[in-house]
Amino acid sequence: MGIILETQELTKYFGGLGAVRNVSFFLNEGEMLGVIGPNGAGKTTLFNLITGFLKPSGGDISFRGKRITGLKPHQIVRRGIARTFQLVRPFHQLTALENVIISCLSPREGGGEKKNGGVEEKARRLLGNVGLSGKEGMLAKDLPHGDLKRLDLARALATEPQVLLLDEPFAGLGLMEISSLSPLIQKLPQEGHSIIIIEHKLREMMKLVARVITLNFGEKIADGTPEEISRDEKVIQAYLGKGGMTLATG
Ligand SMILES: Nc1ncnc2c1ncn2[C@@H]1O[C@H](COP(=O)(O)OP(=O)(O)OP(=O)(O)O)[C@@H](O)[C@H]1O
Ligand SMILES: [Mg+2]
Repeated sequence: MGIILETQELTKYFGGLGAVRNVSFFLNEGEMLGVIGPNGAGKTTLFNLITGFLKPSGGDISFRGKRITGLKPHQIVRRGIARTFQLVRPFHQLTALENVIISCLSPREGGGEKKNGGVEEKARRLLGNVGLSGKEGMLAKDLPHGDLKRLDLARALATEPQVLLLDEPFAGLGLMEISSLSPLIQKLPQEGHSIIIIEHKLREMMKLVARVITLNFGEKIADGTPEEISRDEKVIQAYLGKGGMTLATG
């Protein structure tokens, strides 16, 4: 057990806007780390940098001790980092099963179950794991939002990631849906995935994580346990400054 992912002074400017500024943090192997911060704090941009969707303006990213800064998204997936999206984007005209099969075709290096039964069986199993059994043949465009979030998770897991980045997995879900999805996320570390989870639903997220980092205006302002974070003056101020959003962690 050591550090699996680390950023050093990671920075992204969009013109004059510092969306991510000198952010250094690490993720331990087997850890589930939370990332919080008000709207526009730079959370999704941080994921876009780690996964190669954006090139950093400065700083470094290392994965298992090797520098991955500047690699392309498909290269990063192959190394073993996958993500889900704040706004899900499946192939709408394909079925749930076909969507997952496509992701199964690009597993990480050294991963890739090449057992008999192959890809379709693996895709069916993944759909079952995320609670979509019976919906394999439905077109993605006909699936409700909650199921699309599950499908997105199955697609990310299909690449057999060692690090999985979840961007607001609970967004748009009702309490019932959250309480059925949450245990699936909770057991991911036992299944060999180290997790970073961005979430605005703080109460639900704080139950899952042992450590949380907080971003505000692109900077990391806190790093600690959920208890420490919910008492941190800078964190409270960051949230109060944004229209009185409360930091209720229950
Ligand atoms: N591709 C882009 N081009 C220009 N500006 C961008 C781009 N992506 C993000 N930004 C800006 O960077 C800042 C950080 O955005 P980001 O999406 O990372 O925030 P966030 O913390 O994920 O917010 P939210 O909680 O609303 O999802 C915002 O001011 C946003 O408008
Ligand atoms: Mg975001």
